[in-house]
Amino acid sequence: MSSVGIEAIGLAVPPTYVDMVDLARARNVEPSKYLEGIGTTRMAVALPDEDTVTLAARAAQAALASAAISPDAIGLLAVGTETGVDHSKPVASYVQSLVGIGRRCRVFETKHACYGGTAALQLALDWIRSGSAAGQKALVICSDIARYGLHTAGEPTQGAGAVAILVSDDPKLVSLEPHKTGIYAHDVHDFWRPLYSKDAFVDGPYSVQCYLDALAGAYQHFRDKNPGVTSDAFAALAYHVPYGKMARKAHRHLRSLDGDPTPDATFDRLVASSLSLCAQVGNIYTGSLYLALTSTLATSPTPLDGQRIGLFSYGSGSCAEFFAGTVTPGAQDRVRALDLPALLDARRQVSIAEYEQVMAERESIDQRPLGAPAGPALRYLGVDANKRVYQPAG
Ligand code: CAA
Repeated sequence: MSSVGIEAIGLAVPPTYVDMVDLARARNVEPSKYLEGIGTTRMAVALPDEDTVTLAARAAQAALASAAISPDAIGLLAVGTETGVDHSKPVASYVQSLVGIGRRCRVFETKHACYGGTAALQLALDWIRSGSAAGQKALVICSDIARYGLHTAGEPTQGAGAVAILVSDDPKLVSLEPHKTGIYAHDVHDFWRPLYSKDAFVDGPYSVQCYLDALAGAYQHFRDKNPGVTSDAFAALAYHVPYGKMARKAHRHLRSLDGDPTPDATFDRLVASSLSLCAQVGNIYTGSLYLALTSTLATSPTPLDGQRIGLFSYGSGSCAEFFAGTVTPGAQDRVRALDLPALLDARRQVSIAEYEQVMAERESIDQRPLGAPAGPALRYLGVDANKRVYQPAG
């Protein structure tokens, strides 16, 4: 079979954000801590008419529009999320009807914290490589609303958004290498969200260490399967980005494992572009790695045609994977044509008072009283007879 990988990408973010200087001032913190110490300038805030489903459906529509394909081409629809809306009914089922995907399709949700999207992606790649897809394409959507709560250490590392990845044997953006991925899984309590809580629980410093341990484990496994390969093989690297500074720590660690005595020296060349969109959105959990990859393609000044790119996915709890791909000639132009920086610039800034009110309203979002349809946008209207109701895009 010819190469398999990413044919198109669609991004959805809430139309609202908090400026991190405002948040820092409200929390009596030096703004430079959030801007440089964390690495975020704007943090996406999802209003109460937005949830994991609306973000996923909007991203899916963007990916299908970008590839100019019909929903009928999709034979596998998977949503990776750690902020699902139902213990039984998957986010993917709502997306199926909101996007108009047909009934001859596998539709399901995957979960392992921020690794959930990668689990679905790897499964979709193997479904196509095996021949089971028989010419159909897969749509893998990573959708999340990251929430730690007000006045917590995790607060500046929240965010919201979705990345939809069209997977096929016509990888117009990136072909992904089969078989030789590096994997690491270890049962740890670094970050978790019990069924009774809207807010995630996290042991911050421990989660950073678990991330780095998982990176070392997955990367060593990757190198065992790819003898002689070091990170010098890559023209760019995209790491899972819970916040920008974590990607910097990850790169330093990876280069040290390669024996590089100046591990920060390659950061600007190999990693910095991956953070430009992430810094304006915040953590989107499952989608963060794929937002970093998109950011690389959208903003890297380096021509990446035919170049190898390394990807690291980390899900707390934990499961991680280091894998590689090759950028298809023309991919950067295709992603630049989406004009994602303009999408982010068009958002509305909310005050800290409005953000705090939204956070309070989102506490009971799963019992939101049914509202009236309004405007043309796809939106979450609320709950009727214990069923979530959505207004499709007009
Ligand atoms: N100017 C510049 N930098 C400053 C500064 C200033 N005025 N003041 C502080 N800093 C720096 C600190 O030196 C520190 O940098 P280093 O890590 O390089 O030392 C950085 O800002 C953060 O400051 P603190 O160490 O004081 O950390 P904190 O107590 O504010 O917590 C955090 C940071 C642990 C990341 C916290 O935000 C958190 O718990 N976030 C959620 C958990 C998380 O994202 N974990 C990441 C790994 S787990 C994962 O990846 C899965 C996932 O998506 C959740």
